[in-house]
Amino acid sequence: MRVFWGRVALRGLLCGSWAPGPSPLRHSSGGPSWTQERTLVAVKPDGVRRRLVGDVIRRFERRGFKLVGMKMLQAPESILAEHYHDLRRKPFYPALVSYMSSGPVVAMVWEGHNVVHASRAMIGDTDAAEAAPGTIRGDFGVHISRNVIHASDSVEGAQREIGLWFRSSELVDWPDRGPHSSVSPA
Ligand code: PPS
Repeated sequence: MRVFWGRVALRGLLCGSWAPGPSPLRHSSGGPSWTQERTLVAVKPDGVRRRLVGDVIRRFERRGFKLVGMKMLQAPESILAEHYHDLRRKPFYPALVSYMSSGPVVAMVWEGHNVVHASRAMIGDTDAAEAAPGTIRGDFGVHISRNVIHASDSVEGAQREIGLWFRSSELVDWPDRGPHSSVSPA
């Protein structure tokens, strides 16, 4: 167990030149300097099936966040077991893993100031019945067990999940400058 988390943490730390938490990246272009974070966002199989991937990407882009990694995959059970390790004793765990295995997932890494907290607000409450209109789950979720999207719930969780779903070579550290930049306020 300890070896496992050590391996995940190491993989997270090796994700490109960027690392969250203790040594966050600071972008400065003459204006204020904004601490950048990264988070894992995954459109779940029901979201892919319902053609919601584009809508999710559009929302994150319009918010000014920067896409630094994206892939579609049939999530292997090994990743899901690690990803949902803390929930393994919950009664809904088998159904959750089966749902997450029922079709492809689109996993993404988004970067930006406060992106972990902001993306949780954007996706809305876990239970679609409680999710506010205007949030992704509030607009598209049908049930707590079919809630369209996942987003990391903390900076530490994001680091662990990004290391689990992505190799460092799959993340692109592209320069973000120009009129649409989220790190270059006017
Ligand atoms: S959350 O999203 O972490 O704040 O909420 P939490 O309640 O801790 O849920 C963790 C994940 O478990 C999923 N979940 C469920 N799946 C199926 N059935 C039931 N009843 C259920 N309750 C919670 C929930 O969607 C979370 O999955 P992710 O992938 O993190 O969104």
